Amino acid sequence: MKKNKTFHEDSILLAIESSCDETSAAVFVGKTVKSNVVSSQYFHKNYGGIVPELASRAHIESIAQIVQMSIREADISIEDVDGIAVTTGPGLIGALAVGAQFAKGLGLRYGVPVVPVNHIEGHIYSSCVEHDDCQPPFVALVVSGGHTTIFHVPSFEEYIPIGSTRDDAAGEAFDKIAKMLGFGYPGGKIIDDFARQGNPLAYTFPRGMIHESHADFSFSGLKTAVRTFLQKEFPKEQFPQGVPIEYIPDICASVQAAIVDVLAVKTIRVAKELGIQTIVITGGVAANSGLRARMTDETSKRRWKLFTPSLLLCTDNAGMIGYVGRKKILNGVVAENLDFTVSSQAIRAKRS
Ligand code: KG4
Ligand code: ZN
Repeated sequence: MKKNKTFHEDSILLAIESSCDETSAAVFVGKTVKSNVVSSQYFHKNYGGIVPELASRAHIESIAQIVQMSIREADISIEDVDGIAVTTGPGLIGALAVGAQFAKGLGLRYGVPVVPVNHIEGHIYSSCVEHDDCQPPFVALVVSGGHTTIFHVPSFEEYIPIGSTRDDAAGEAFDKIAKMLGFGYPGGKIIDDFARQGNPLAYTFPRGMIHESHADFSFSGLKTAVRTFLQKEFPKEQFPQGVPIEYIPDICASVQAAIVDVLAVKTIRVAKELGIQTIVITGGVAANSGLRARMTDETSKRRWKLFTPSLLLCTDNAGMIGYVGRKKILNGVVAENLDFTVSSQAIRAKRS
């Protein structure tokens, strides 16, 4: 058993993520990510949403194997690990506890430091895993199934939330509208796929709070507008099978355009006001092709920098947790006596 090894630039880090419905483990050798194994719990789609108790059980069943796979893929042995990073929140408490306890167990067994990492902090830095020049100061748009927030990130570990959703998260809006259209869960990608073949100008849906000067979002108006539109245009009595397929691409493209428009306009406005010319978009919805194209367009015409994670790094994964955890351990942050706990608390905002 190794004891109290010092963690340095070339050390090996194991990262674990289990906050929601992905069990994931990644290995960093120095600053290079050698493996990032993600196992998604697809069975939740049978229930139309995530069932927390089932998520925790599935994490318990798969975590040892996923960690083992990440170690094997990185071509190291568990004894080589010099430090461990683990997500401790926000997320589903039972799911988080599985990863946290597993990390603590390994930390005790191998005598290596364990560092707790905030899930949102991980998302914010997910692009940086692959891009060395992705460094603060930047503006980060975090858009996922549970979060829609614009952060000003002046430096590492400094997060200033500038605006957030007042109701549904962007991913939640995608998922709920997808459900109205009869798609499975999660529906964001399905809307994205149909939108590629549709006309975004076919229908006009509301862009909540787009003209208001603050950076908050609201997607509940859009949701209601789409529901009302569907009830009016495609009443159940006349369309018992649901919306005819020929209308789906245009509806999806128009819904996506409404969501993307608000996200893009508000993020660009915040960056302009802060005088920052680097933008990071991250979280599950950052995989959206419409959002990526629009943000590429908005930033390139201003000659700003845009960082978007590859698709694997957009959704929940341990690679992003490892990136932050490694920096934290190098900065001397370690959970003394493994005295950390999991919580659903949002990112702790530090203001300079
Ligand atoms: O980050 P994530 O994996 O989990 C959370 O922490 O929430 O994000 C999942 C969300 C879901 O709402 C899903 O529908 C959405 O990301 N999503 C997308 C796309 N791919 C995933 N939304 C729009 N377009 C996509 N291509
Ligand atoms: Zn996430």
